[in-house]
Amino acid sequence: MQHRNLKPFPEHFLWGGSTSAYQIEGAWDEDGKGPSVIDIGHRVEGTADFKVASDHYHHYKQDVALLAEMGFKAYRFSIAWTRIYPEGTGKLNAKGIDFYNNLINELISYKIEPIVTMYHFDLPYALQKRGGWSNRDTIDAFENYSRTLFEHFGDRVNYWLTINEQNMMILHGTAIGTVDPNLENPEKELYQQNHHMLLAQAKAIAACHDMLPNTKIGPAPNISCIYPASSKPEDVLAAHNFSSIRNWLYLDMACFGRYNDVAWSYFEAKGYTPVILEGDMDILAAAKPDFIAFNYYNSMAVAESTGNSSDVGSTGDQQIVVGETGVYKGHSNPYLQKTEFGWEIDPVGFRITLREINERYHLPLIVTENGLGAYDQLEDGDKINDDYRIEYLRRHLEQCQLAISDGVPLFGYCPWSAIDLVSTHQGIGKRYGFIYVNRDEFDLKDMRRIRKKSFFWYKDLIESSSLTE
Ligand code: BG6
Repeated sequence: MQHRNLKPFPEHFLWGGSTSAYQIEGAWDEDGKGPSVIDIGHRVEGTADFKVASDHYHHYKQDVALLAEMGFKAYRFSIAWTRIYPEGTGKLNAKGIDFYNNLINELISYKIEPIVTMYHFDLPYALQKRGGWSNRDTIDAFENYSRTLFEHFGDRVNYWLTINEQNMMILHGTAIGTVDPNLENPEKELYQQNHHMLLAQAKAIAACHDMLPNTKIGPAPNISCIYPASSKPEDVLAAHNFSSIRNWLYLDMACFGRYNDVAWSYFEAKGYTPVILEGDMDILAAAKPDFIAFNYYNSMAVAESTGNSSDVGSTGDQQIVVGETGVYKGHSNPYLQKTEFGWEIDPVGFRITLREINERYHLPLIVTENGLGAYDQLEDGDKINDDYRIEYLRRHLEQCQLAISDGVPLFGYCPWSAIDLVSTHQGIGKRYGFIYVNRDEFDLKDMRRIRKKSFFWYKDLIESSSLTE
């Protein structure tokens, strides 16, 4: 649909950027922090680990000043569970509370709204050793942790996100490390973990509403529209299958408090049905999020799977397995270009995704990740000419404005990432930030912060809150 007049970005739109604790903070074992599953197991050969990352723990004041210079209205970051509870539960670490108090106060001093993710992939290792999300005790540990966050920071944090990309942790659990790949049926275990995470999220939402009636809380999945490879009905059905399993399973539960029917029938067909205890569904039905935060990088296309085992393939740099026999198989979209890391670029798919989420749930929306990973080059005179990033973000923001004109209640945009950080699988070489951090994979150099070309572009954009100037 073409609009004669585009609606402007709303007044008080939350222009910002995102990061996550383990990817930016460093100080992995300082000031009482306990180890997380990332510290213990998440290593990709030939790339940086997360021990120092961007050393934000020691640079946070300088970093926040740079975000303020860009004009950020909001900053989305995550709290490391293991800084607050080194063992996941039990003894509280006062120095962890101090760090986030200082960070939040620093942001507020510049009138930057903190948007806080409670858990971004970094489960405390002490909990993992006891079964992690397979153990129902982790649900209670998360609720206890969430109550601690609300108690200590709830007076200043108005927006909470429960769990980052729960759907990616389940769909690619063996990559992120929440499940043992050697199990006889890891998928069944993953969907049991999923059920527990959904309960943990519901309990955190209820606790938030109980303790902080004026504060808002929502889920933060990765959502993207799924195209059928063709107009062949079987391909359309495959796209519907995959969208239900990948997207709506998670948001239907968060927003409606029930399992998506197609996803449930898929569990039954595959033998993945989770054990549900008495009372679980009441807890799930009672929790109502105030908004939906979502991450979007690319769309996906799928075709019919006729049951051939070669339907299970892999795409992209993360070696994500796509395709399930009898459900859907991956399809390369010939209409889209790819990033240098093989991720398809689809701004129009962003608009479609925004519309789809709005039509299903009718809740305010905020984008908490979107961005381009690239090998940036530091040129003479401390210049980083990341025009490709500006182009990517501009094209996605054009589609945001079109979605707003379509009636989507979008209240913020926080692309990935505010500052360079260590990518989940490609080290520091795959950069996303507006601010360059001067280090290499294994040479920490001087860690100095350098404004990229996109920094100045985004600053101007935020100032005018418009794409036209
Ligand atoms: C999202 C995650 O899935 O994608 C981030 O929430 C991650 O943690 C981002 O960094 C980009 O992925 P990658 O693998 O390029 O770092």
